[in-house]
Amino acid sequence: MPRAHKSLEAARHRIWVCTGTACRGRGSQALVRQLRRRSRDGATMVLATGCVRFCSRAPNVVVYPEGVWYSGVTRNVAELLMAENAIANPELEAFVSFRNKTPLEED
Ligand code: FES
Repeated sequence: MPRAHKSLEAARHRIWVCTGTACRGRGSQALVRQLRRRSRDGATMVLATGCVRFCSRAPNVVVYPEGVWYSGVTRNVAELLMAENAIANPELEAFVSFRNKTPLEED
């Protein structure tokens, strides 16, 4: 198995940061660097992705396996996302665009 795949499977959380044009224009590449610096323990993998079709709310970040989409993410919000049990943090609720489940979690 390729090394990147092993890392992805070992990570408890995967944070996808949109680096499409609109999100990049609002600082998403700096968010990728910030989140990667904070995720060196291997428990969280930070990945850059193309446009997730939510450009009007850029920059957007998606956290799995919880399936929570955050919009208008700032450096402060990114910092909160890296905290233990971030999903339950009420300060982050204002940035949630929507939640979805992975196909394996569907009822
Ligand atoms: S560029 Fe990020 S949602 Fe479109």
